[in-house]
Amino acid sequence: MANFVFLLKNLLVVSAAVNIGLVWKNMSDEINGKVASSSLRNCEKKLHCHGCLSSNGGQDETAQVSRKQVLLSSTTSFSRDDDDEPDGGDVDDDGAVINLDQTGEETTVVTSSWQFMSYFSDLNNICWFLEPAFASAVTRLHEVVGNAITEGRHIVVGTGSSQLYHAAIYALSPPDGLEPMNVVSAVPFYSSYDVMTDYLKSGVHKWAGDAYKFDKQKPYIEVVTSPNNPDGSIREAVVNGDQGSLIYDLAYYWPQYTPISTPAEYDIMLFTTSKCTGHAGIRIGWALVKDREIAKKMTKYIEINTIGVSKDSQIRAAKILEAVSGSVDDGNNETFFDYSYELMAKRWKELREAVNHTELFSLPEFPVKTCSFSGRTFGQLPAFAWLKFNGKVDDCESFLRDHKIITRGGERFGASKKYVRASMMSREKEFRLFTKRLSEIK
Ligand SMILES: Cc1ncc(COP(=O)(O)O)c(C=O)c1O
Repeated sequence: MANFVFLLKNLLVVSAAVNIGLVWKNMSDEINGKVASSSLRNCEKKLHCHGCLSSNGGQDETAQVSRKQVLLSSTTSFSRDDDDEPDGGDVDDDGAVINLDQTGEETTVVTSSWQFMSYFSDLNNICWFLEPAFASAVTRLHEVVGNAITEGRHIVVGTGSSQLYHAAIYALSPPDGLEPMNVVSAVPFYSSYDVMTDYLKSGVHKWAGDAYKFDKQKPYIEVVTSPNNPDGSIREAVVNGDQGSLIYDLAYYWPQYTPISTPAEYDIMLFTTSKCTGHAGIRIGWALVKDREIAKKMTKYIEINTIGVSKDSQIRAAKILEAVSGSVDDGNNETFFDYSYELMAKRWKELREAVNHTELFSLPEFPVKTCSFSGRTFGQLPAFAWLKFNGKVDDCESFLRDHKIITRGGERFGASKKYVRASMMSREKEFRLFTKRLSEIK
C-alpha cells in the first residue's frame, strides 16, 4: 500500500485464571493430550466473558507515554537527565520504534477473554505450545522472503529469541558432562550472550569468550550471528574444531538490513519479531530446528522455564507476519520491507555524512550485493552502527556521553573501548539529534 501500515491496537484482555493444575500435573514428562485438551476446551467455553478493545490504536499507546518514558523503558542501564538526550541511542534492542509511527487496520487483533486460556496449543506437535496460526505465518514469511528453509525443520516458539538461546544452549549441552559446555562467539559478539550463558552459573554450560581464540580440544557451541550485532558483518563459523555445535542467530537476516543471498538452512536458526518487524514488546521469537531430539529438548527447557509461550502474543505475531507476507504477495503496493529498507538506507546515508564530517570516527564498509528478495543492490544497513574512534580518546562511550550521546562501549561486546555501538532504530527526532551532535564534535 502506499503506506503499508501497522496499527497496533491496544487490547485489554480480561484475564481469567483457570485452575488447570489437575491437567498440568502429569505434563512434565508425558502429556495426556486428549484429556488435557478436551477438559480445557470445556473450561474455555464456560468462561465466556468479554475482552475490551481500545478504539484509538497504537498511536495512542505512543502518545500516552512521553518520549522519555519510551526510551527509558527500553534502556534500563542508563539514566537520562535531559529530555533532549540523544538517541545515539542505546535504545537498545527496541526495534519497535520504526513501526510504531505507522497506522492501519490490517494487524488489529481482537481477543475475547475466554480465548487462549489453555496451556496447550497443538498436542501433535513436538512444540506443544506452538500456535498453528503462528507456525503457518512463520512458514509463509520465510517462503515469501526466501531467507530460510523451513521444510524438514521443527518450529519452536520462544518468549523472544532470548529464551530460545537459553533453550538451545541447554539442548546442546549434555546434562551429565564432566565439565560445562564451552559457549563461544566471535568478537565483537552480541552483548547478552555472555551474560545469558553464565547468569545462573548452571554448571551445564559456560561462556568461553571469543570464538577466534578458542583452541581447546573440547566440545563447544559456537553462536554465529549474521548479520552480526553489533557490527553488521555477515558471518560464518570460525572455530576449526570437530566437536562443535552451531547456533545461527539470524535475527537480522531480513531484507531491510541486508541483501538476502540464499535461504539459510542451518541446523538451528533463531529469528525474532523484535528485529523482523520491530515488535520487540510482544516477546516472540522462533527457532527452526532440524534435529527432532534437539527440538524436543528446547521445548522441554521452555516447558520448565515458562510452561510455554503467550498465546496472545503468538496470535498477534501471526497476524503481523501474515500482514507482512500479504504486503509482498499482493504485489501492487509498497511492502513492509520496502518501507523499512528505505528508512534504513536514508538513516545510514545521514549517519555516514555525519561521520565523514567529523573525521574522528569511522564506520564499517560493507560489500555490495544483489538481494534475491528485492532485486536491489546494496551493502548492509545494520540496526546498529559500530563506530570506531580514530583519535586519542580511549573510552569512546564516556567521550560521547560528554557530548550527550549515549552508546554502548565496545568492551561490552568483547572488543576495545575505542568502539561503541549506537542504535539506528530510534525515533526520527532522536536520530536527527544523534547525527547532528555527532557531526558537531570537534
Ligand atoms: C542478535 C540478537 N539476538 C537476539 C536478540 C534478542 O531478541 P529477542 O528480543 O527476541 O529476545 C537481539 C536483540 O537485540 C539480538 O540483537
